[in-house]
Amino acid sequence: MLKNCNWQIALLNSSHDKSHFDCGIDALNDYIKKLATQDMKRYVSNVFAATHTNENQVYGYYTLSASAIDLENLPRSIQQRLPRYTSVPATLLGRLAVDKDAQGQGLGTHMLASAVQRVIDSELAWAIFVIKAKDKNAAGFYQKFGFLPFESAPQLLWASREELKIFM
Ligand SMILES: CC(C)(COP(=O)(O)OP(=O)(O)OC[C@H]1O[C@@H](n2cnc3c(N)ncnc32)[C@H](O)[C@@H]1OP(=O)(O)O)[C@@H](O)C(=O)NCCC(=O)NCCS
Repeated sequence: MLKNCNWQIALLNSSHDKSHFDCGIDALNDYIKKLATQDMKRYVSNVFAATHTNENQVYGYYTLSASAIDLENLPRSIQQRLPRYTSVPATLLGRLAVDKDAQGQGLGTHMLASAVQRVIDSELAWAIFVIKAKDKNAAGFYQKFGFLPFESAPQLLWASREELKIFM
């Protein structure tokens, strides 16, 4: 049991121990163990790992990348607030996973808030925060916080930057 722990979230580095990580989904376990460092080296995504404060075992992680969304995929009400470019700059939360030992104790929520705060604090210009959910079940987690699925791709969810400012 890991109740009442303080979490530390930092860019994945060689001091992190990810060897025990198990969120119950093989693809997400393999990603942190085998692919995350490569993706960071190639500037495909940045990976942020959650550990107990001053410890190195990874209990959760999320990835962030730059992205873009076709303007026509957004509702008219949002389109009207944006310039008439074909696509809109976005940030992408590509993966988020919590170890089975830490699930149901608020770490997923904490990492989602951390990801949003991180991109709001950055100097990058972006208008839409996009999340790629692993499956329908995972999409339910994000919908709980108000993220909306795209009609054309229900596993991709989004919120505008303006809405997220209020959320924070
Ligand atoms: C989905 C996941 C990220 C949630 O993380 P967590 O730390 O267990 O979630 P939290 O403890 O922060 O839960 C916050 C709330 O979300 C709810 N919740 C958790 N998973 C949910 C889901 N799949 N659908 C709807 N609600 C969900 C919890 O019941 C809780 O509700 P409450 O505040 O009313 O009690 C985690 O269970 C996980 O990593 N699962 C396996 C990998 C995965 O599916 N990743 C999803 C992204 S691809």
